[in-house]
Amino acid sequence: MAGIRLSPEDSELSSQQSRGAVSELISDDDRSVAADSWSIKSDYGSTLDDDQRQTDAAEALSAGNFRAPSDYSSDKEEADAEEAVPSMLGLQCYWDAAYADELANFHEHGHAGDVWFGADVVEVIVTWTKRLCFSISQGRLPNHVDDIKSERVEEGDKYLSTWGVLDIGTGNGLLLQELAKQGFSDLTGTDYSEGAIQLARSLADRNGFPNISFLVDDVLETKLERQFQLIMDKGTLDAIGMHPDGPVKKMMYWDSVSRLVAPGGILVVTSCNSTKDELMQEVESFNQRRIGLSQDPETPKDQEAGRDPPFRFLSHVRSYPTFMFGGSEGSRVATVAFLRN
Ligand SMILES: C[S@@+](CC[C@H](N)C(=O)[O-])C[C@H]1O[C@@H](n2cnc3c(N)ncnc32)[C@H](O)[C@@H]1O
Repeated sequence: MAGIRLSPEDSELSSQQSRGAVSELISDDDRSVAADSWSIKSDYGSTLDDDQRQTDAAEALSAGNFRAPSDYSSDKEEADAEEAVPSMLGLQCYWDAAYADELANFHEHGHAGDVWFGADVVEVIVTWTKRLCFSISQGRLPNHVDDIKSERVEEGDKYLSTWGVLDIGTGNGLLLQELAKQGFSDLTGTDYSEGAIQLARSLADRNGFPNISFLVDDVLETKLERQFQLIMDKGTLDAIGMHPDGPVKKMMYWDSVSRLVAPGGILVVTSCNSTKDELMQEVESFNQRRIGLSQDPETPKDQEAGRDPPFRFLSHVRSYPTFMFGGSEGSRVATVAFLRN
């Protein structure tokens, strides 16, 4: 597994702790250690200069946050052996405490809070996603989204209003604001932390996006009844995978998300904890499980257990900045789109 690597203190967090009054265990120092260990974030609007990028890369590398291109294979045994290490970032109490701080910061200083993976990555995600949606609106299923000419994409703004968009684990909701700037208009953000939703709502109102809907919702037990054509996940699957019961929670995640994406719709996952191949492998395992269920005579023949795999790989971002270390080249973030069959 690439991406998030945790400090030894975090990795010692046990399931037993998670069942207790964990919030009492989380000091400001703990929170900052945990967040620093997930190092790819920056303050909103800040631009990382080259020195900063080098420093980030070095930090990521020294935390084991890198793999050589030759390691980007889909070796199942290896991927299974490398589940995310449990961390406080997998617990709701961590996020509740973090967003209580961010909300106080917003009220006192007007700060928007963290942009996970940085503003550069957000810019890539939103322009790439817009191109992908434009292409699909045109009846094409591209493998090379970067090939679509941007002038044609500008013409496509009228198509974007028909896309119902859900950002799961929206945090401060800034990704949705960026999608709104690109022309999407039916936008909803959910997060299981009430503080996140309060912050997202306040920021959207302040920045002139009163039409974005925000609501408190745990994606693993979602109360949403509608389906969406586009689902965005930036860092939420990563966080879920860091729960002490991460593997089980991730299965719940795929079950839930497969119900939330409308047939023919897409899921765009951005991760610093899984490579593109690992995300594809996770989806393949989910597909196989679903197909297996559909063949089990005990399974009720409802629409969830069809014979077709629920998701198929569509495209991925190829243009993230890469960096060299020890003669190997790698990128710190993966963004992958899956089509809901
Ligand atoms: C790394 S942060 C990313 C926040 C936001 N997507 C962004 O990119 O700025 C992970 C987010 O996932 C949320 N989250 C984690 N597990 C969740 C769950 N089961 N349901 C809803 N939100 C969840 C956390 O509260 C947190 O806001």
